[in-house]
Formats: sequence, C-alpha cells, structure tokens
Amino acid sequence: MFDQSKIHPVLRQPVVSRDGIRGIERPKHLMEAVEEDAEPLRSLAGMHVVSARQFDRQKIMQLARLAASYETQPDLIHPPLRGKILVSAFYEPSTRTRLSFESAWHRLGGDIMSITDPNTTGIAKGESLADVGEMFNNYGDVVVLRDNGEDSVYKMLDSLRIPIINAGNGIDEHPTQALADIYAILKWKPEFGNGGLPEEEKVTIGIIGTPNRMRTVRSLLLLLSLFSESIRKVFIVNPSFDVLDADQQEELERAGLKLQKVQKLRDILPEIDVVYINSIAWVGDSYETLTGDIKLTSESNLKKGAIILHPLARGEELDESLDGTAHNWYFSQARGAVFIRMALLTCLVHRINLVVDSPVEQLEDD
Ligand code: CP
Repeated sequence: MFDQSKIHPVLRQPVVSRDGIRGIERPKHLMEAVEEDAEPLRSLAGMHVVSARQFDRQKIMQLARLAASYETQPDLIHPPLRGKILVSAFYEPSTRTRLSFESAWHRLGGDIMSITDPNTTGIAKGESLADVGEMFNNYGDVVVLRDNGEDSVYKMLDSLRIPIINAGNGIDEHPTQALADIYAILKWKPEFGNGGLPEEEKVTIGIIGTPNRMRTVRSLLLLLSLFSESIRKVFIVNPSFDVLDADQQEELERAGLKLQKVQKLRDILPEIDVVYINSIAWVGDSYETLTGDIKLTSESNLKKGAIILHPLARGEELDESLDGTAHNWYFSQARGAVFIRMALLTCLVHRINLVVDSPVEQLEDD
C-alpha cells in the first residue's frame, strides 16, 4: 500500500461539479421567461457577424433563450452541425474566445480547422486576406477571425461566400463577447429584456474601462443601448475623461443610454448593480492597461446583490478574493459564452430548424 499522505488532498476524490459557479441554475429561468419565436433566429442564417450594430433586442432575446436551452441540456442527442466545418483563425492571443467557439462547434457536432499563426499560411508570403478568404470558401462553412487589424475582417468580406464572425478586430469591436455579457445579465435578471423595467427596478451599470480603446466595452455599450429602457444610468469609470469619442457618445445617447463619466470608483460603487470591469485594450501587437489605482476586492464597498462581469483575462484590477463571493458572475459569463456562441452558430449555418420547437416544413439548405 502506498503512503496515502503523499497524495495531494484534491486527488483523493472525484472532481467536483461546477455547482459553485453563480448563475448555473439560471438558464432554466431565462428559458421559461422568454417565449420562443424562431423568426429572429432564422433571419440570422447566412449572415456575417462583424458589429454589435447588427443585432436588435428580439434577436438577442431569442439567442439568449436558445443559449439557455443548450446550457440546460448540453449533451445533444442530435447535434445539429454534423458535417459542417469551422475555420477558426486566431491571429492574436486568445483563451476564451477561440476555445469557447471551438467548444461550441464541437458540442454542436461539427469539425474544426484551426489556424493560430498566420505565418503558417500564405500570409507569410504576402498573400492578401481577400485571397485567403476566397480559399476559406472551399474549406469551411463559417470563419471566426481574430486579428489585431481593425480592417482585416472587412478585407475578407468581399471574397467570402460563407459567414465570418468578428472575434475581435483591434480596438474596434468584439460583438460575440457582448452577446455573452448580455446573456449573463439576462440570466441574472430575465426581466431586463422585457422592454423596460419599472423605475424602481431599473439597473445601474458601472463600466470600468475605456470605451474608445476597448473593443469589448465598445460592443457592450452598443448592445446595452438596446435595453436602455431597463437601465437607470451607465457610469463610465476611468481616471481619464477622454474615454468616449464624440460620435460614440452621441450614438449611445441617441439610442437612450444615460451616460455619466466619473474618475473615482469608490464614489459610485455602492449604487451599482452590474459592475463591468476590463483593464486590457489590445492595440497593435501589444496591449494597454487601465491606469490608476482601480481595484475591486472582496473588501470593496459593493452594493448587496451586485454582480461583477469581466471579459477576462484579468489583472490586478479584479482580486481573486472575489472569486468565492456571490458577486462573482465573471466565471458564469465566461461559461455562458460557449452556449450563446452555440446559439449563434446554429443560426448562421441554417440549422435552426433542427433545434427549435416550431420548425418550418422545408430546411433552407438541406
Ligand atoms: N474575452 C476575451 O476576448 O478573452 P480572450 O482574449 O481570452 O479571447
């Protein structure tokens, strides 16, 4: 018999389930709160997804409902993407986006070709992105692209005859991260999506970040503007005031968001229901971090019941002491990204009729 005391304690029992993650029980509530309507989902078939501006509230609510149904029952008996191929092209580092897209596609039964270094393709020999896109048409059914150039995704659009998803283009946009963010908010409070909460229940949001330099924040603000009737106010917390471009602010306010820039977090933290914090902006081949002493810990003066979201990766701004608290919704947010991406991918490749309760007679492409 080996000396059992030499075995690490964690190895003495099976791995625990993920029940500790906040919100894990919530998808069912969300599913029940939203009535199924397959039409907004069908309208996504064959679409490129480049900007958060391409979504409306109905599409988001139905995507969230479908995501919740996948999250409630992740082991699919009839995976709807069997026979489909994803081209996963990530020309910039990624943990969550690449792996959650690939996990989503695998869970739906499809196959994947993954490129993580453009220099292993003809791009190293000067091949244009348009020509690479032309080739992708022959190899796959959807392309997911992350590139530090804002215009790379647009350079591929003209030659692509299969949908492309922008998985982060420089400092511009990251629309599917914003979908994952909204999905987390909807699981926390399904009524948020009902077209306007009563005044006393409206949600105050605090975004710690730089909306004109961070693609996650830029896309999230656009999607939040679709829910402005449920939002009391959005604080933009940043030591600098130069964080919103004039046209960006004008567009968001015209869409109904009430924005207020503040430099110090502690002044407004006790008012905030949803804290969204991000400190990294990818710029070119490197990244910038939020300056100043902004840091959330379990000792921070958070409102009771407040949730914290973070697109991750985190730095010192989000202390690990929060991980075991009820404020931690950032792990649930990252987990939910798999399911909201499953929902979106199902729609893009015309397979929505295989998973909704109200299929039409004829499948579009089968
Ligand atoms: N949220 C996000 O974009 O994370 P990754 O950079 O790890 O993909």
